[in-house]
Amino acid sequence: MIEFQNKLEKNSLEIDRFLDSYLPSGNGLNSKLFEAMRYSSISGGKKIRAYLVLETGRFISAINNHTLSKSKYNELIAVGSAVEAIHTYSLIHDDLPAMDNSPIRRGKAANHIKFDHHTAILAGDGLLSWAFQILGDRNFISNSEKRSEICFILAKAIGPNGMVGGQQADMDLTEKKSLDLDKIEWIQNHKTGALISCCAHVASILLNASNDQKSKLINYASYIGLAFQIADDLLDLDGNEYSMGKPIGQDNKNETPNFVTILGKVKAKKRAIEESNKAINLIQKFKQESENLVSLAKYTVSRNK
Ligand code: IPE
Ligand code: IPE
Ligand code: MG
Ligand code: MG
Ligand code: MG
Repeated sequence: MIEFQNKLEKNSLEIDRFLDSYLPSGNGLNSKLFEAMRYSSISGGKKIRAYLVLETGRFISAINNHTLSKSKYNELIAVGSAVEAIHTYSLIHDDLPAMDNSPIRRGKAANHIKFDHHTAILAGDGLLSWAFQILGDRNFISNSEKRSEICFILAKAIGPNGMVGGQQADMDLTEKKSLDLDKIEWIQNHKTGALISCCAHVASILLNASNDQKSKLINYASYIGLAFQIADDLLDLDGNEYSMGKPIGQDNKNETPNFVTILGKVKAKKRAIEESNKAINLIQKFKQESENLVSLAKYTVSRNK
């Protein structure tokens, strides 16, 4: 696992380099917005979504006996960075007093505490729009059909029938402890799973995966998405605030129902491991090529941050 965490850290540095190079900066009247966008996105977070984009790309090349060209690699980095900008936007908004009201994120003051509420809202909006600016730019993705398909798939995954819809349900269903497991699963698959499975989808588009490869990889990532959110809910109960860089006990405080509230810790942990194993089963016949994706599935449920 240490070796895997080193790979994850190396990936984070690459994504940070891209964000630092291309996120706006300057001294104009909107410079506070630029600062707030950079503050939350650069050098923070595990960047597992970008890792998933990169590793899915590498996996598809390897199983089709291709070497990943430098230009394809750069395209994957651009897409991974755009996905991380979108994820950061979702966290900045998630932490706002109107949502989870959480003062700490990624080991430092949440965006709305460091800056102010309107800047946090606008920094989220700015990161979201910037991501699509990158994805629509021919300097980053050369093929116009792929640019447009990736924008479409990603917009759908994070919109009203995806991540944002999941966040709406997550907020609205607060306090109704009688929620059944199907509803919780729907919420988790939307608020978290949609963006995570989209990472495999967009990498499949970039790398010309066959339909069969694409659907297996999307399913792999959907299982990871559910396992990832159940693990997050368990960490919210028992995790260490220092290593996680965010406060624990948020779900109890906000009365946010999740797998742990319904199933209890033991069964929730079991379910997370089952989802991770289902992900592994889909790819492990490619023994060598799938090593990093298998490690990611294991890390998803064994992580402490
Ligand atoms: C936190 O995501 C929010 C969830 C969807 C569970 P991460 O655990 O990936 O957060 P960072 O990016 O590492 O900060
Ligand atoms: C956040 O879920 C999901 C999104 C931001 C889309 P949580 O509210 O559980 O995430 P944390 O625990 O604050 O990181
Ligand atoms: Mg939340
Ligand atoms: Mg939250
Ligand atoms: Mg949480």
